[in-house]
Amino acid sequence: MTVSSAPGKVYLFGEHAVVYGEPAVPCAIERRATVSVEQRDDDRLRVHAEDLSLDGFTVEYSSDADATPDVDASESLVRAGVGYVDAAVSQAREAADAPDAGFDITIESAIPLGAGLGSSAAVTVAGIDAATRELGVELPATELADRAYRAELAVQDGEASRADTFCSATGGAVRVEGDDCRAIEAPDLPIVVGFDGGAGDTGELVAGVRALREEYDFAADTVESIGDVVRRGEDVLADGDLEELGRLMSFNHGLLEALGVSSRSLDNMVWAARDAGALGAKLTGAGGGGCIVALDPTDETKTALQFTPGCEEAFRAELDTEGVRAEEP
Ligand code: PMV
Repeated sequence: MTVSSAPGKVYLFGEHAVVYGEPAVPCAIERRATVSVEQRDDDRLRVHAEDLSLDGFTVEYSSDADATPDVDASESLVRAGVGYVDAAVSQAREAADAPDAGFDITIESAIPLGAGLGSSAAVTVAGIDAATRELGVELPATELADRAYRAELAVQDGEASRADTFCSATGGAVRVEGDDCRAIEAPDLPIVVGFDGGAGDTGELVAGVRALREEYDFAADTVESIGDVVRRGEDVLADGDLEELGRLMSFNHGLLEALGVSSRSLDNMVWAARDAGALGAKLTGAGGGGCIVALDPTDETKTALQFTPGCEEAFRAELDTEGVRAEEP
């Protein structure tokens, strides 16, 4: 058996605008998805998922693309649960030149699903790493990131940036602009995450921003302004000026709000963080529901979020400088 884990992430800056070629700065956090893989002696896949907001389920199916998984659960649940695993396995089979390899796969994730913390990227990156190593092939982090990006593209109908997968593969803070992905320096960040228990529909939210941008010049300008905030944010991150970083994150939230991708619960959590004296707060990821990220070196924001209506979970998250890694089986 081979086991790999990969971290989730928060966006300090730039989600949505990154889709239109502006830069974005995601940052890996110490919440991981762990994928265990054991090669079978046939070509079937058996996937068992735990803690994936899915309460634990198991599916078993053959590699034949037309075969329906043999499982007693709704199709959308199965798609959400195994779509990324499937795409990861395809990438691993291709990388190891083992088109008929079958696997027993177990996923354990501490990252809420579809909530802006990069759960799917973490599962995909860890899955490709574990499956290729199980087949005796070791891929460098950059190739893992590229293969995980292609897996996400396949599952998300061509709507994905390289941000999540690159960040999860390499760890740390990264800058992504189109196909250009690189690590950047970041100080220790006092990150607090608030989670509303829900999830947004990334495809729908991206389509909404696209429509606004086509209809109104000022919406297109808003997307460009997010790019300006990101460029300023990068410099500030390098300087380690946390107060200015927080101000820019709050500004970024306002622009995302204008583009219609926030929600009442996300805004409630952002306001709770502001009232608690956070240096800054914004939604992270596609929006519509899910998580906010705040900066606060004190306990005030976490405590305030715990008492905020609509906030289901609040936790501190350290920046994770390590990307994908091998774990003891
Ligand atoms: O919600 P997440 O973590 O899947 O982030 C989506 C980020 C977007 O910029 C909206 C889309 C993308 O692929 O970059």
